Amino acid sequence: MTQTDPIPLALLPDSAEVGSRGELHIGGIAVDEIVAEFGTPLFIYDENHLRSRCREALEAFGDGVAYAGKAFLCLAMARLVHEEGLHLDVASEGELHTAITAGVPGQRIVLHGNNKSLAELSLARTHDVSRVVVDSFDELDRLRHLHSIDGVVVPVLLRVTPGVEAHTHEFVSTGQDDSKFGFGLSSEAATAAVGLAKSNPGVELVGIHHHIGSQVFQVESFARALEIVVGFSEPLELPELSVGGGLGVAYLESESAPSIAAWGEMLAGACERLGVRARVSAEPGRSIAAQAAITVYSVGTVKELPGIRTYVAVDGGFGDNPRPMLYGSGYTAFMPTRVTEPRPALARIVGKHCESSDVLVREAAIPEQVQVGDLLATPVTGAYGYSMGSSYNRIPRPSVVFVSNGSARLVVRRETVEDLISLDVE
Ligand SMILES: Cc1ncc(COP(=O)(O)O)c(C=O)c1O
Repeated sequence: MTQTDPIPLALLPDSAEVGSRGELHIGGIAVDEIVAEFGTPLFIYDENHLRSRCREALEAFGDGVAYAGKAFLCLAMARLVHEEGLHLDVASEGELHTAITAGVPGQRIVLHGNNKSLAELSLARTHDVSRVVVDSFDELDRLRHLHSIDGVVVPVLLRVTPGVEAHTHEFVSTGQDDSKFGFGLSSEAATAAVGLAKSNPGVELVGIHHHIGSQVFQVESFARALEIVVGFSEPLELPELSVGGGLGVAYLESESAPSIAAWGEMLAGACERLGVRARVSAEPGRSIAAQAAITVYSVGTVKELPGIRTYVAVDGGFGDNPRPMLYGSGYTAFMPTRVTEPRPALARIVGKHCESSDVLVREAAIPEQVQVGDLLATPVTGAYGYSMGSSYNRIPRPSVVFVSNGSARLVVRRETVEDLISLDVE
C-alpha cells in the first residue's frame, strides 16, 4: 500500500465498517452521528473490541492475567475487565480507588508502583488485594511496619530487573539495570530482597515479577528476559511468575505487531523449554486497549505555508494525546466521513495548546481539501492517551464513549470549565 491509500481498516477497531456515504461506523453507529450527540474532541471505544482482547488474554494466560489499568481506566473500564474475568493491575491510590469503586473485589486487584506510600499500602491491605508487587527495600520496611500494627500478612511478588534492554523508546524501557524500577538481578539486590522478604513477617513471598518495557515488537526480547529471570526464580521454587506487559501494537500502516495469542504462545513455549514450574501470568495494557479507540477532533484552522507545509489545527492536542510529544510516537490521520477516499495531501496535524511541540501527526496523509469544521480522527488512541492526558492551558479533557451493538454510552463526561476551577481556593 502507498501512503495515499485510504486508512486501512486494520488500524481501526474490530467493528469498523464503511457506510453508504463513505462514512466510518464503529459499534454499528456512524461516527459523525456519535459526534453529533457527544461533540469533539471525543474518544470512541469499540466495547466489543476491548472485550475480545480481554478474552484473548484470558485464553492465552489463564486465570490470574491482569489488565494494566494505566493504559486506560475509568469505572466502566474497570467493570468491563472484571466482567471478562481479568484481574486489574493498579499503580496508585487513584487507580485502586477507581477499581474498588467500580466494584472490583480486592482479590482481583494487583498493586504496583515504584514508590507506594504508606497510605496506598494501607488501602490495598484494607481491601485485601490479591498481590502487592514489591519494588524496593523501603517498601518491604513499610509492610513490616504496617504488620507490626495490625498483624496483616500480604502476598507479594518481588519485581526484578533482568538487565535486558528492550528495543523500544528509552522512556518506556524498564528492564535494564539502570532503572528506577525493581531489584537488579546483576547487582545482587534481588537476592538480598528475597532474603529480606522471607524474614519479613508482613509479607508472604509468592513469586517473582518482571516487566521489560512497553511497545515491544521483538518477541525475542521477552524470551531473553524470561530466560534470565527464570534462572533466578526457578531455584526459589515459588508458585508464581509474572512477565508483566509490554506487547507492542501497530500505530501506522507500515507496522505490524504479534497478537496477544501469539505472544502467549511464544512465552508458553519458552517456559516449557526452560522447565518453568511456576504459574505464569501477564499484565497487558496497550495490546488490550490501544486499537479499540479512535479520537475524533474538529478542524479549527487550516494554515497554508506555500512551499513549506500545511498546518491543520484541531480542537485537542497533547492534552488528550501526549505520546507524540513524549516519545516522538508516530500516528496517522483520516476523515471519518470520507474514509474510503485516497489521502494524497500532506499536512501537519497540530493541537490548540500554546506549545510548538503540540503536534499530533508530523506528516499526515489526508484527503484533498480538508476544511474548517471537518472531522479529523487519529486511530489507535485507546491506550496512554486519555490516561496520560492533562488539562494544560485549562483546556477541558474530552468525553469518552463506549459503543456496541448500535448504541453509544458516555463513560467519562467532558470536563467543564467549572471542573477546572473546582480545586482552586479563593
Ligand atoms: C509493571 C507493568 N506492567 C504492565 C504494564 C503494561 O504495559 P503495556 O501497556 O505496554 O502492555 C506496564 C506499563 O508500563 C508496567 O509498568
